[in-house]
Amino acid sequence: MQDFFADGPERKDEKLDEGALLLRGFAEGMAADLLAEIDRIAAAAPFRHLVTPGGFRMSVAMTNCGDFGWVSDRRGYRYDPQDPESGRPWPPMPPLFLDLATRAAAMAGFPGFHADVCLINCYTPGTRLTLHQDKDEGDFTQPIVSISLGLPAVFLWGGLARTDKARRIPLYHGDVVVWGGKSRLRYHGIAPLKEGSHPLLGARRLNLTFRRAR
Ligand code: SIN
Ligand code: FE2
Repeated sequence: MQDFFADGPERKDEKLDEGALLLRGFAEGMAADLLAEIDRIAAAAPFRHLVTPGGFRMSVAMTNCGDFGWVSDRRGYRYDPQDPESGRPWPPMPPLFLDLATRAAAMAGFPGFHADVCLINCYTPGTRLTLHQDKDEGDFTQPIVSISLGLPAVFLWGGLARTDKARRIPLYHGDVVVWGGKSRLRYHGIAPLKEGSHPLLGARRLNLTFRRAR
């Protein structure tokens, strides 16, 4: 039987670095409500595989809600107020999302965080996200808040240089990671997702990352 929740010593919240906090199970109680909102968002702005500026199709499927959405194409990475697929604004950020992100950020020492973007990533077994920095935002005093749902994943927590050795941190359904301050530009990624079936999400992991783009 696969473990879907952190157990034993892994159950504890953990300061990962200066400005970075892992909140175990922080979003667990709201998972069903979060999923219902994600389904509504994906009905209006379906998950899609973006192409990197280098021409590679990303294995993670993505969509967004909020005032802007993170998009990538041959021209580069950017925040766009419209979904390029439909030409319409992204679905609005549900109040539940905003409230959760603001509360998590405050726990990590970033009061008053007001996300204007939620990027939603969908992983299936084998999907990975290579080490990268989140650096397309306008204001690095604002943190990133990341919520994990569904299948467990290994979060790669690197340093400020791409070549710094990355720690491997298991993330479970309901876990929230906040990184800001001195950790805001740390490299991070997701190791290839293992096979499995989650009671709520099946063979998927969903990740919500909240950002302040402008
Ligand atoms: C991201 O870096 O945008 C997502 C990280 C994750 O899926 O946990
Ligand atoms: Fe990221």
